Amino acid sequence: MDIFVDTADLDEIKEAESWGILNGVTTNPSLIKKAVDNAEGELSLEDHIIEILRTVDGPVSLEVTEIEHENMVNEAETLYDRFDDINGNVVIKIPVNTAMGKDEDNFEGVKAIKTLSESGIPVNCTLVMKPNQALMAAKAGAEYVSPFLGRIDDYIRDQMGLTRGDDYPKGTYYPSELTEMIRNFHMRRRISEQGPEQVVYKDKETMDLFAWGNDDGIVSGVDLVWSIKNILDNYSYKTEIIAASIRTARQVRQCAEIGAEIATIPFDVIEEMMVHYKTSEGMKAFDEDVIPEYKSLLK
Ligand code: E4P
Repeated sequence: MDIFVDTADLDEIKEAESWGILNGVTTNPSLIKKAVDNAEGELSLEDHIIEILRTVDGPVSLEVTEIEHENMVNEAETLYDRFDDINGNVVIKIPVNTAMGKDEDNFEGVKAIKTLSESGIPVNCTLVMKPNQALMAAKAGAEYVSPFLGRIDDYIRDQMGLTRGDDYPKGTYYPSELTEMIRNFHMRRRISEQGPEQVVYKDKETMDLFAWGNDDGIVSGVDLVWSIKNILDNYSYKTEIIAASIRTARQVRQCAEIGAEIATIPFDVIEEMMVHYKTSEGMKAFDEDVIPEYKSLLK
């Protein structure tokens, strides 16, 4: 699995690059804002982006800001023409659907992906929250789709009435297996109390329970990646998955088990992937047991 770092912070990118395991970078307008605020004007934004592109010999995603298809294409072409010559690694991030309200066009993103892909500009389709969106993006020719794991877990928890901060901190793993066990327990009780015929479609409470703790059948962010991987493999699409909005190292492991081609990971979560209590404990014991005679053989 390729590892991208999910940040626009130059120090983080440079350090991750020095580890020798970095394959790319993803940015978005919020990450650029955070990085620029932290850098306190050390570089112009243009130079900052150039430095990122030079630091990493792998795809660097830069996102458009417009919401209408032609405007997105114009911005994408401007970004690509301005920056791709630096290191040949610019990928344009296009939201799968730019509609912010009910009556807005839901296909502006897909249309932009199609136009850009046909003209040879690689697209990372972002803000993917459901498998059908990934299917549409793949059909339009996206090189990458980015399902947002953490935000789907947040959404499911919101629907369950849990509040981030009050009920769970940002880096908390969402135990969808536990949610499923609870749902199944209550479903079985209802079925045995009322009989199977009565509960299917005729009983609102059961149907509410059926929808509890999932998003149209997707039980977690990891499940979203699993579903998209199946769909893309079924039809041999070349589109690669970038598992995004990652909050924990456990999510990264599960995405690797599923076979997601790439995970874009916050800097601190990449560090978390390397840490285990027993490794540190073992290291300490080895360090204490080194005898001088052995040490002298290594000089
Ligand atoms: C990366 O491509 C995404 O923009 C990013 O992973 C979003 O992460 P967040 O949900 O933590 O903001």
